[in-house]
Amino acid sequence: MIDEMLLKEAYKAMQNSYSPYSNFKVGAALLCKSGKVYTGCNIENASFSATICAERTAIFKAVSEGEKDGFICLAIVCSGDDYPYPCGVCRQVFVEFMKDANIIVGKKNGEYKKFTVKELMPNSFTEF
Ligand code: THU
Repeated sequence: MIDEMLLKEAYKAMQNSYSPYSNFKVGAALLCKSGKVYTGCNIENASFSATICAERTAIFKAVSEGEKDGFICLAIVCSGDDYPYPCGVCRQVFVEFMKDANIIVGKKNGEYKKFTVKELMPNSFTEF
């Protein structure tokens, strides 16, 4: 139920994707302990490395609004046919802010998979 709601919110956010270079739209929705859902999309740039992924947009929106912990679950969807597995940079950001949370990857046909951040990012770099 909550999973489906988050996937729906992620699809809504995906509509705002700015992706003229890859033509690959991504959307994300992050459920916080406050009950609030922060959404994000990928935002590209002519200087490719300035691009930000949908997952980090959602997380950084939450953090910038004062929510820095207690993230429960983040759903990711994309315009492609396969599961939108998160990139390594986003996984590192999951470890920073939501080590004990779940990640859902959803396909267009409604199928989805749920992982823990620890499953997606084992043996992660957390402190120095
Ligand atoms: N992208 C995401 O939004 N999330 C990921 O985890 C992987 C990649 C975006 C970045 C870029 O706009 C497009 O997908 C193609 O790489």
